[in-house]
Amino acid sequence: MAKPAAASASLPKRWFLLLLVVFSASTAAVFLIRGAFDSCDLRREVADTQLVVSGAPVAGRREKSPLEFMRSKLVLLVSHELSLSGGPLLLMELAFLLRGVGSHVVWICNQRPSETNDVIYSLEHKMLERGVQVLSAKDQEAIDTAVKADLVVLNTAVAGKWLDPVLKEQVPQVLPKILWWIHEMRGHYFKVEFVKHLPFVAGAMIDSYTTAEYWKNRTRDRLGIRMPHTYVVHLGNSKELMEVAEDSVAKRILRDHVRESLGVRREDLLFAIINSVSRGKGQDLFLRSFHESLQLIRAKKLQVPSMHAVVVGSDMNVQTKFENELRDFVRKNEIEGHVHFVNKSLNVAPYLAAIDVLVQNSQARGECFGRITIEAMAFQLPVLGTAAGGTTEIVVDGSTGLLHPVGKEGVRTLAKNIVDLATHVERRLTMGRKGYERVKSMFMEHHMASRIAAVLKEVLRQ
Ligand SMILES: *[C@@H]1O[C@H](CO)[C@@H](O)[C@H](O)[C@H]1NC(C)=O
Ligand SMILES: *[C@@H]1O[C@H](CO)[C@@H](O)[C@H](O)[C@H]1NC(C)=O
Repeated sequence: MAKPAAASASLPKRWFLLLLVVFSASTAAVFLIRGAFDSCDLRREVADTQLVVSGAPVAGRREKSPLEFMRSKLVLLVSHELSLSGGPLLLMELAFLLRGVGSHVVWICNQRPSETNDVIYSLEHKMLERGVQVLSAKDQEAIDTAVKADLVVLNTAVAGKWLDPVLKEQVPQVLPKILWWIHEMRGHYFKVEFVKHLPFVAGAMIDSYTTAEYWKNRTRDRLGIRMPHTYVVHLGNSKELMEVAEDSVAKRILRDHVRESLGVRREDLLFAIINSVSRGKGQDLFLRSFHESLQLIRAKKLQVPSMHAVVVGSDMNVQTKFENELRDFVRKNEIEGHVHFVNKSLNVAPYLAAIDVLVQNSQARGECFGRITIEAMAFQLPVLGTAAGGTTEIVVDGSTGLLHPVGKEGVRTLAKNIVDLATHVERRLTMGRKGYERVKSMFMEHHMASRIAAVLKEVLRQ
């Protein structure tokens, strides 16, 4: 780190920012970031189940935000927690989009611990700096805001726990103004205590069609309640991420830096899985596939560069048993030289710049959306993903990546797909380019903003 930092004085601002990125990538091990939340990496992009929003307007988007009509509207955002996981970060992005057009934005956090940790401190400050008002969830002021607000956004199913205990008899008055943003699809969220008011809110906004359908099924079959009008909102990439993704010099520096820190060479091939390490995200099955792909390559005597698997998202303190299982597997199969574990990091851009292929191996119903998938595509990476959940709505099989089945049946297919991309350089690069084009046409912040705008308009009209 010392070397690049010393050079920064003579470099333009862009470089300075880049060095900060590098710096935080190698040291900010502590904070996570990504999908800590359940099977859903949250990010949005709106596509109404009814309104089909086709090819959002590109011309003129710089001058005028599609959210312009929200100017001077009062919006209350209810977060279940304040952390660096996907859900709260997404809600913060919405807060800033709304501030950008002059909405009055008030933020409350239902499960805020009484002592302020570093993460909460820095996130709250970031919001205050951008003019978001932060209130205590249980104060009278929060209740008054809910009653006065033009719009209330509840973020995640769990945020439903705020309604009865705090609003009490005002609940019926507030329900028709609520847009409920849902990012999860695990069974334990289908609890009456969280979602009993769901049928009576103005609308639900969900990150993928698959998840929306699943909610419709589960609420009907398990709870006997009906979903309100539901909008599907795919997520988009932030401007910050796109800036790095589209800066070839920045990417090269990050790539060299990360590769050096991992001890791999420029010409080596890196397959990475970037998710909190847990069984649901499928790191175990990925390593099995990777091991199998090495065996296939050896058996067929294929000529490929040295191959590496990178598992970004380790946290030994949280998933100790599973983490140990992964390391045991690596040891037993003597692939230590080919597998690298990287602690959770706030910043995924350096890793996306450093690798060649992203593996999205979320199991069971897959990702709710899986924001890392569109982030990788922005970096022109092909994606090897499970054919489940939001991934199927992002990755075009055979064009921007290759899909494999979830579970043990998928191990062999993923192994073959790894070999396929390792041996066909041209195919790999073409898929990456196609993925990038897809992101540019569907998964950018401005697409997300115009889709959210369409939903908010509908909700306000009611
Ligand atoms: C929802 O239920 C229908 C039929 O009841 C089924 O065909 C469909 O696969 C289910 N979808 C999800 C995502 O669970
Ligand atoms: C990764 O995390 C573990 C414990 O959680 C810690 O011991 C280790 O030093 C960390 N590694 C790096 C490179 O920060």
